[in-house]
Amino acid sequence: MRVPPLRTIKLPLLLMTPCLLMVPACLVRGAPDSVVERGRVIYLEQCVVCHGPEGRGDGPEAPFLSPRPASLISAGSSVKSDAEFLAVIANGKPRSAMPAWKDRLSEEQRREVLAYIRSLIRFQPKSLTPPPPQERR
Ligand code: HEC
Repeated sequence: MRVPPLRTIKLPLLLMTPCLLMVPACLVRGAPDSVVERGRVIYLEQCVVCHGPEGRGDGPEAPFLSPRPASLISAGSSVKSDAEFLAVIANGKPRSAMPAWKDRLSEEQRREVLAYIRSLIRFQPKSLTPPPPQERR
């Protein structure tokens, strides 16, 4: 088989570059069919009535519940580990309206909804590496 000359390979590579550059943006935004996006669908179907659209614990059911649903984006909640959150999602929370989801959502779906909850937190840690000198103003 004849190897195509470099010229013919370069063009497709050039055309592919924007797609490759877009990959990280998709991961952050939650491209359709990403883990976060699948979690969002579950959240909007199952959790939003209590926890609210932004996870603030202010869904339409919230005022009628005692204890009220947690704000999932509070410092107190966001400090909790994935394992802690997954346990609450699987088993519910005793003496509260938080249901157990282990019979209704697969483990994969519980992880997807967790990924979505985490995506509601906007905090981004600042990089500890200072920018290169020429970019500093
Ligand atoms: C019927 C109302 C209701 C629904 C529906 C509901 N929750 Fe909850 N949830 C609660 C209540 C009430 C609590 C307990 C309050 C607290 O933890 O401060 C809670 C607690 C939690 C916690 C623990 C928060 C913490 O800081 O410990 C997580 C995580 C959670 N819910 C996730 C979910 C997810 C994911 C769904 C959907 C799959 C969901 N909840 C659906 C009412 C609800």
